[in-house]
This record gives sequence, structure tokens and C-alpha cells, in this order.
Amino acid sequence: MRVVVLTGAGISAESGVPTFRDADGLWEGHRVEDVATPEAFERAPGVVHAFYDARREALDTVEPNPAHHALARLEQALGDDLFLVTQNIDDLHERGGSTRVHHMHGELRSALCLGCDAHVPWPAEQGGLGDLPPCPRCGSCALRPDVVWFGEVPYGMDEILGHLAEADLFVSVGTSGAVYPAAGFVQYARAHGARTLELNLEPSEGSHLFHDARHGPAGVLVPEWVDTLTRRS
Ligand code: APR
Repeated sequence: MRVVVLTGAGISAESGVPTFRDADGLWEGHRVEDVATPEAFERAPGVVHAFYDARREALDTVEPNPAHHALARLEQALGDDLFLVTQNIDDLHERGGSTRVHHMHGELRSALCLGCDAHVPWPAEQGGLGDLPPCPRCGSCALRPDVVWFGEVPYGMDEILGHLAEADLFVSVGTSGAVYPAAGFVQYARAHGARTLELNLEPSEGSHLFHDARHGPAGVLVPEWVDTLTRRS
């Protein structure tokens, strides 16, 4: 059985990573247009760097939770038949044991070079706010957070759509369904014949689009679902 799992901020909530749109969510304290657009970075790179520096530092204080670990077990069981795509820029899937994670919105621990388009590890040494070393590939001083901002195209859309079209089952975990294109994956997968399941704390904006939905914490629902699926296969 070919399975595509899409995850969002809700899967990392029980690890202590704030979501975006819940009460106390990240966007409550920030205007998206101040920290998460290319225009904001051009206008005030220091403000944008400070926002992502804080997110990156916070990664050191959190650990993967049972939902991340369960998806790593699912990868072991299904191998290439699992495609895990996340909107999250944290590294908790990898630290939970997943080895193939498609980060459609980029990664906090990666930098993007505006000079040569290389994706390189975020530099360990950083002088001060936005004071980044030159790109290790091309030497130009043009590194930025490797995060897909509003108005930019998510990474690897062709690959994602290919997997969705082939999927027998599409599962969405911990995402509000407020941001496209990820919010449209359920309809795309369904139109191509997949069964669809939502696992979320509460009904998402697109909850009615799924064949099945279970509501509760990801740390409980995901291990339950993975256990059932792996027992069956
Ligand atoms: N278990 C399961 N779901 C949870 C949990 C939990 N413990 N806690 C919160 N949730 C659910 C919320 O109910 C909400 O529906 O997770 C969802 C989080 O929604 P958002 O904060 O909107 O996060 P997400 O859907 O990942 O946002 C998508 O928007 O701002 C951009 O680029 C950012 O990747 C992000 C994208």
C-alpha cells in the first residue's frame, strides 16, 4: 500500500514547538509580512534573522514525541511505499528516526544561497544578527534562511503531486488546512483515487474533505494509526 503522510505544526506541538494559528501561536506575536516574506527580508533582514534564530535556538530545547517516532516506524515498515512530506521547518522527524523527509517549506537548519541556489547547512558560527559567513559553495555573501516564505513556491511540488497521484492512502496530521498548496493535497489525492484520513486535534478547515477523521492529540492518534496499519500489512 502506498501512503503519503502530510504533517504540520500540530505534530510538533506536544514537543513544545508552538503552532502558527492556535491561541499563543507564532503568528499571534508577529505579522507574517514582517518576518515571513521575501519583501520583509529585503527591507529588514535583521528582524527576519532574529525571528528564525529564535526558532532555531528553540530546537535545542525540544525532543521528538511519540507521533514522530511512530512515523519513523512506519517508514521502516513501508520503505519506499511511504512518502512523508512536512510543512514543518523543525528537524523533529529526522531526530525521531525518519530518514526520508520532504520539507516542502524548507528547514531551519539549512541556509539558501541567493548567489548560487545551493542549500547548505546553517553555519555553526554566526557573528551577530544576519552576520553570516560567505556561501561555502560560491563564496558570495548571500545566505538567507532556507525557508519558503509567503509568496514563494514550496519545494518539490512535482514530486509531491506525483506521490499523491499514486497514493492509496493520504493522511494529514496536525495541520489547520489554512495554507495552500498543502491544504489542497486532500482533494488532489482523492481525485486520484486515494482514501483520505485526517488526524488532528480538532476539525481542520478542510476536515469535511476527508473520508475519515479522528480528532485528538497527535502523540496518541498517530501511534494508534501506525500500529493498526503495520499490524494489517
Ligand atoms: N495534535 C494534533 N494536532 C494539533 C495539536 C496536537 N497536539 N496541537 C495543535 N494541533 C492542530 C491545531 O488544531 C491546528 O489545526 O495543528 C494545527 C496547526 O495549524 P497551524 O498552526 O495553522 O500550522 P500548519 O497547518 O502547519 O501551518 C501551515 O502555515 O504559516 C505557515 O509556513 C507555515 O508551515 C506553516 C503553514
